[in-house]
Formats: sequence, C-alpha cells, structure tokens
Amino acid sequence: MNEVILDELYKNLGKYVTSERMCKKLGISRIAVWNRIKNLQKLGYKIEGKRSVGYMLKEEAKDILIPYEIRRRLNTKIFGSRVEYFRLTSSTMDEAEYLLEKEDDLNGALIIAEEQTSGRGRQKRKWLSPKGLNIYASLIYSPENWDTSMAIPFMFALSIAVREAIVDFGIDEAKIKWPNDVMVGNKKIAGVLVEAKSESGILKYLIGGFGINVNMEEVPEEIKDTATSMFIEASHKIDRATLLANILFYLENLLDIMNKKGKDEIFKLWRGMNNTIGRRVDIISGEDRIGGVAKDIDRDGFLVVETESGPRKVITAESVRFVDGHEE
Ligand code: BTN
Repeated sequence: MNEVILDELYKNLGKYVTSERMCKKLGISRIAVWNRIKNLQKLGYKIEGKRSVGYMLKEEAKDILIPYEIRRRLNTKIFGSRVEYFRLTSSTMDEAEYLLEKEDDLNGALIIAEEQTSGRGRQKRKWLSPKGLNIYASLIYSPENWDTSMAIPFMFALSIAVREAIVDFGIDEAKIKWPNDVMVGNKKIAGVLVEAKSESGILKYLIGGFGINVNMEEVPEEIKDTATSMFIEASHKIDRATLLANILFYLENLLDIMNKKGKDEIFKLWRGMNNTIGRRVDIISGEDRIGGVAKDIDRDGFLVVETESGPRKVITAESVRFVDGHEE
C-alpha cells in the first residue's frame, strides 16, 4: 500500500497530490492516508502536507534502503525481482538459508538488512554490522549445470561487481585483494562471502553475501587500522539503494558472460583490477607462515606464489597478508 502512495508521489514529484486522489486509489480514509504519510516521513521521505491541498514529495529519496527504492533503480532482468528486507537479523546469510529451506525458485532473490547481530566473514571472522549505515546483503543464485569448481569464479564475479559499483562513486583506487576483499590502499572497504550447496558435484545454489562499509563517517575502533568506508574515501554520503542496484546489474552481466564464455573471462577481468599479483606476500595457514611473491592466479582461481622453495598454490582457506611496503 505504501508503494501505491509512493508511486503517486513520485509520478508527481514536486507537485501536490490531493488526499482525495490517494483515498480513491487506495480505498482508505483520509486519516489512514495521513498515517501512512507520517510513516514514510519517518523513513526519511521529504513529504510536505498542506491542509485542503494534499501531499507533495519534495525530492527523490536519498539513502532510504527499502525494497521500493532498490526496485526503482534496478536495471536487471532477474536479479532483485524479489527483495527481502530486515531491519535487524542475525545474518542475511542465515535468512537466505531459511528462505531456501522453505521455498524453491529463488534465483536472483536479494536479502538485505539494516543491521546484523552475527554478521560473518570468511574464515569464521565476524563482520561488524552497525545499524543503518552500510550494506549487508545476500543474493541467491541458482546456476544451470555448474560444477563445484564454479563457486570460486562466482565469488570473483561478485567481488568484481562490488568493486565496479564502488568505483562508480569516484573511488577509483578500489582494488581487489585475492581472493575477494575490496581494498583502498591497505584498508578494506568491502568483503564477499560465498556459501553454496551441491549435490553429486553440481551446485544447487550459491549464496553470495557482501558487506560494504558505506556511510560510516568513522570506522569502529576495533577495525580502525584495517578498514575504511566509502564516506571516508569519497567525502560524501552515498545512496545505498543506487549502490546495491548497480551491484546487481554488474553481477547479472558478469554471470551472463561467465555462462556464455566461461570462467576465464572473469579471471581476465579480475587480473585487471587486483592489487595482489606482483606483491610480496605471506601465506598464513594456521600457525604457519610462508613468504613469497604472488605471481598469478591459476585456472581455478587459486593464487600462485613463488616461494623460496619454488611455486606453490594457495587455496582460498588460507589467508594472504602483504609484506608491508614491498612491491615487486
Ligand atoms: C569477508 O570479508 O570475510 C566477507 C564478509 C561478508 C560480510 C557480508 S555482510 C552480508 C552477509 N551476511 C553475513 O553475515 N556476511 C555477509
């Protein structure tokens, strides 16, 4: 119902719409319309009401992350045709899983939250998820006949989509650290997490989770040395609905490319925007640490590191740390 009101207000942006018109459209009383307008104002819509004239939306919404605003900005075929919104949840990954337990046909469904209590990252790290400032999202993808080796290229495609959408806001220095952290310099601005289910070696679905530090004017103390935000880098507030819609657009296109031309195309793109190849790195696996130089990624997306004892493939479960200051 709010969507009908918003449609009417947007159609007449900057002009008054009479409350009679709204009442008729919705089949509700003036008081009921007024209550809904108040709720929209609370969400942040700049709506002016004038007695015996009506209501006017003064300007387009800025950074209101509700499904309606995301849908208005979407330019995709399938992705985002369903958007599940949570003010608060444990994790959008959990919500995606619950949905998949209950329903079929969820290809392209997007789950977003304003706040997460147990946001998670790779290697069981937690993902700090303060309220109302950032993007916490998971997208469900049901591929056609992908074997499990496609999960890594999918993860690469997602980090490319996130990086491209960040760059569109003028943060040109954003680069991808293998395998999928989006970095500005040595600070992380976004992270990607993929969870998948397979049967007999074929992927049934993938959940592509991404967290982006967007409008935090300061990063929380515990990550202040290792993280940054789009606000800090661009020096202005970012419209999260636009950012999200752009990510879905890029991702849908990248997966089309992957389906038509194969994963190598994705790896090619990734090579053009990574900050890892050519750098001195430490491979950290549990207590072990091996130094070397990152040479390339192989045909599966694993990092190839030249160590003193020769080339060595690094799998995604290990982590790679740059050796400060040295680039080769
Ligand atoms: C990482 O860098 O380790 C990946 C971080 C992924 C965080 C996102 S936030 C939305 C989604 N829900 C989660 O619990 N995690 C991902």
